[in-house]
Amino acid sequence: MKKVGLIGWRGMVGSVLMQRMHEENDFSDIEPYFFTTSQAGQPGPEVKSQTKALLDAYDLDSLSQMDIILSCQGGDYTKSVYNGLRETGWNGYWIDAASALRMSSDSIIVLDPVNKDVIEQGLEQGVKTFVGGNCTVSLMLLALGGLFEQDLIEWVSPMTYQAASGAGARNMKELIAQMGDIHDCAKTQLDDPGAAILEIDKLVAQKLQSDSLPTDQFGVPLAGSLIPWIDVPMESGQSKEEWKAQVEANKILGSSKQPIPVDGICVRIGAMRCHAQALTIKLREDVSVEKIEEILEAHNEWVTVIPNDRKITEQELTPVKVTGTLNIPIGRIRKLTMGPEYISAFTVGDQLLWGAAEPLRRMLRIIVE
Ligand code: HSE
Repeated sequence: MKKVGLIGWRGMVGSVLMQRMHEENDFSDIEPYFFTTSQAGQPGPEVKSQTKALLDAYDLDSLSQMDIILSCQGGDYTKSVYNGLRETGWNGYWIDAASALRMSSDSIIVLDPVNKDVIEQGLEQGVKTFVGGNCTVSLMLLALGGLFEQDLIEWVSPMTYQAASGAGARNMKELIAQMGDIHDCAKTQLDDPGAAILEIDKLVAQKLQSDSLPTDQFGVPLAGSLIPWIDVPMESGQSKEEWKAQVEANKILGSSKQPIPVDGICVRIGAMRCHAQALTIKLREDVSVEKIEEILEAHNEWVTVIPNDRKITEQELTPVKVTGTLNIPIGRIRKLTMGPEYISAFTVGDQLLWGAAEPLRRMLRIIVE
């Protein structure tokens, strides 16, 4: 059985990963070792009725005993350990949730329902580093997998609606705290059926603009507002999150030499853990909506086409409906007035599942099997 070192298993993505690995019985096929950056020697989690002491995540000797290392510890950890570990001659598999190694020429971005061929070819060629993609990119590719597979997309412009979880656990807490404070400031008026809405709105606006909301994480209020910028600026004028869309999507698809343009604006909104995206797509040819829906639905077992119907859309195509599931609904599919090759679509996916943990545990399985 392969020795698998798990790092960052207690954080938010790591906890979701552990939960999924338990649900899918992944531990029965591996010999797990749990690492820590701060509590070496303390008892690790109970897995397979066994508890082992935690190993030091900075100890290259312990790391190099592993056949596979799976890290959800973050980019700083990867940067501080990965090169040194490889320099010791360690030739095991490194699977990573962080973006640090994503664009390295010797790594593959994993999303096996979309790029199993790229992964298998890489394994045959001796690639040993596999990295999970940016969440919006993975969720978009799962939703549009059928159209990409049939090379029907000339370009796509995703306008995102990204949940607080993408920014981190503390950001999720801050969003809820902001919501609570906003409610509190107008509670008396809300309890009074006769209170004028403009009075309530004024109180809320004053609260939002007052500097008294907790904003240590986001820097500004997210509740009752939105933030049309995610990650650091690039020279192109894009945010880094926007830049990732095209480079990562094409790396996953194996089309980096002739990249399909993928570009839009990334926006943080007050959802908890599901990212949504409004997509404008230019097709290479005029394909009927019925055919598009058939192609999308047939691509993988998680994608579901939601009919372009108000009631069904309101019920099925929301973060509330999708949260905690592996479902990738895509709806609002219709021809745009720009011409028969232009279509719209809207998709939602759980940022912590398919957007982070799921591709990693599936990659682990591919290596182990
Ligand atoms: N960068 C993403 C976000 C999450 O901020 O929502 C990680 O892929």
